[in-house]
Order: sequence, then C-alpha cells, then structure tokens
Amino acid sequence: MSKIKWGILGCGRIAGKFADDLKLIEDAELWAAGSRSMEKAVTFAEKHGFRHAYGSYEALVSDPEVDVIYIASPHAQHHEHTLLCIDHGKPVLCEKAFAINGTQAREMIDRARSSGVFLMEALWSRFLPHYQETMRMIREGKLGKVGSVLANFGFIPEAPVPDRLFNPALGGGTLLDIGIYNVFFAISVLGRPDEVVAHMTPASTGIDQQCAVNLLYRNGAIAQLFSSFEANLPIEAEISGPQGRIRLTTRFYEPTARIEWYPGRVDTRTEIPISSQPGWGYHYQARHVQECLRQGLKESPMWSHADTLLLMETMDRIRQSAGISYPADQQAV
Ligand SMILES: NC(=O)c1ccc[n+]([C@@H]2O[C@H](COP(=O)([O-])OP(=O)(O)OC[C@H]3O[C@@H](n4cnc5c(N)ncnc54)[C@H](OP(=O)(O)O)[C@@H]3O)[C@@H](O)[C@H]2O)c1
Repeated sequence: MSKIKWGILGCGRIAGKFADDLKLIEDAELWAAGSRSMEKAVTFAEKHGFRHAYGSYEALVSDPEVDVIYIASPHAQHHEHTLLCIDHGKPVLCEKAFAINGTQAREMIDRARSSGVFLMEALWSRFLPHYQETMRMIREGKLGKVGSVLANFGFIPEAPVPDRLFNPALGGGTLLDIGIYNVFFAISVLGRPDEVVAHMTPASTGIDQQCAVNLLYRNGAIAQLFSSFEANLPIEAEISGPQGRIRLTTRFYEPTARIEWYPGRVDTRTEIPISSQPGWGYHYQARHVQECLRQGLKESPMWSHADTLLLMETMDRIRQSAGISYPADQQAV
C-alpha cells in the first residue's frame, strides 16, 4: 500500500509537534513543508525530515504529489488557507479553531462539499483514548443524567508571548485558543445549549483575556466554563450526575490526562486505566484522516462537518454574549 504524502502549511510551533507524530505512522510520508519564507521551509523540512520545502503556500498546494495538507497557520488564516487547498483539490486537516466564525466555517465546508474534497477540523482531543473512554462511561449511564460540566483552562503566557494570542487580526483571545476545549467537552456531553451567557475581561488589544461561560439546558443541565491568559489554573474538567462524577485531570484535553471516577456520594476514587501510545497525541487524528482518505470519504464520521459547525456556532453565541469581535467578522465571505 503506498504511503500517504503529507504537506504542512505554516511552519510554526504546532506544525513541529504534528510532524514529530507523523513519524509514528507507518504509512505516512513527510513529503513537503510550505512556508511564507523559503529559508524557514528549508530549515523546518531538514529538521523534521520532509523531502521537499516550498517558499510559498501556492507552491505547496501546486505539488501534484501531495495527498493531504495539515493547516497550521493562526485561526484567522484558516479560512483563506483551507479554500486555497480545496481549490487545488487537496484534502485538508485544519487546526482548531477551524475559523473565526460560523460564516467562514460554513463557506469552507460548502466549498469542500461542492468540490468533493475531504475536510476535517483538527480537533485532536476527539480522537484520544481517554476522551473515548469518558464518553463511553457517560453513554453507558455510569453518571445517570448528566447535570453539570465544569471546565477550566488558564495559563499565563511566557515571554516571548506569541503574537497570535493577543492580536485580533490573528484571532487572538482565550476563547478560540483554549476555551474551545472547554466548549468542545461541554457540548460533547450535553449537546447544543438552549441558552448561552458569557462575560469577558478584555486585554489592551481588545481580545478576551479571560472568558466565563454558562451553557444552559432546558433539562436543567449547566456547563460552567472558564478560560484565562492571566491565571495558571488547574486545566481540569468534571462531569457529574446523580450516580457519580468523572474528573479529567490536568491537562484534560491531552492524552496525558487521567480519568478519575467517583461513584455515588462517597468521595472514593478509582482511576480508570487508559492505554495510550507514545507521541504528543496528534497521530490519532492523523491516522483517522488517512483511514478516511483510503476509504474515499469526504468527511470524517468521528468529527463531522456538523460537529465543527455546532462548535463554531456555539462559540459565535458565546462571543455575542460576551462582546468579543474580530476584524474578520466585518468582512463578507
Ligand atoms: N492542537 C493543538 O494542540 C494546538 C496547539 C497549539 C496551536 N494550535 C493551533 O495551531 C494554529 C497555529 O498555532 P501555533 O502555536 O503553531 O502558531 P505559530 O507558532 O505562530 O505558527 C503559525 C504559523 O502560521 C504561519 N502563518 C501564516 N500566516 C500567518 C500570519 N499572518 N501571521 C503569523 N503566522 C502566519 C506561519 O508559518 P510560516 O511563517 O512558515 O508561513 C507561522 O509560523 C492555531 O490555530 C492554534 O490554535 C493547536
């Protein structure tokens, strides 16, 4: 079986980790690195073992050998870069946040569908063993009817602070960068919220430096979510029902998180064993993309276009309630 040739668009921090994990997949080939700078592309390709380096994204997407492109640019560029790949017939795995808003996300998905090109958001936590196990426990009714989801994600960025975290033009702010994991976990468990109430503290650039979110449900369930760039919080999540509580230890969205199970009212803890593979954890989603491509799928059955749209639309509702806006919101797509 021939290997699947990966191209990487944008040679930044996460691109390097993703490349490390591609090496763990037997039938993945690190084919080409694409950067806005030829020098950077060459350095990245040599460091990570890609066979080709391109000094523009146009050159990357024009390589006829590339089978799939991983987009690792800032959120605000995902819309433009995804459309570039799709218009060149290249399947895409696009980093989170998938887009700045639901309008962009819908256009990206519509273009992929009408072009018959595979497109998936790189919501990597969805593919991790501890997430699968947590959802299995909930589906099996271990908690009873889930009444609450609590999640915190906060850290104080260390110097040199990446520009994209605070720059509105790059989609800066806690919600799209880290709060997205809180929202993802909450809606995975509780579904589409009936009401959304959110507040934020603006940074000097106007983006949300902290964001507090309540997702409210007609059946009485509540998700309480908090993200911050000004507090080093325990990055944990708790899901509770009348029959017990699941605690995902820090960092709840990564494969290193442990599942603690607290049955009933007694505060006795059982740790649920999880078998995970070496690596950062990005290979789970990459393997899944390869399986989809080999089956000729245009959409993932595990993280569908509808899943991405629900996540984006929920974040739009949070932003509307909290008053978080971006230059891209004003642009017609
Ligand atoms: N899944 C995860 O665990 C995870 C972790 C971190 C980040 N992410 C996501 O990955 C994306 C990139 O994050 P990152 O931390 O890797 O960012 P980063 O280090 O700043 O890298 C982003 C890269 O995007 C390219 N780029 C294209 N247009 C750009 C522009 N206008 N301004 C700046 N860079 C531009 C640059 O590559 P070239 O100069 O080579 O063109 C840059 O190196 C974000 O959407 C973020 O949410 C995901």
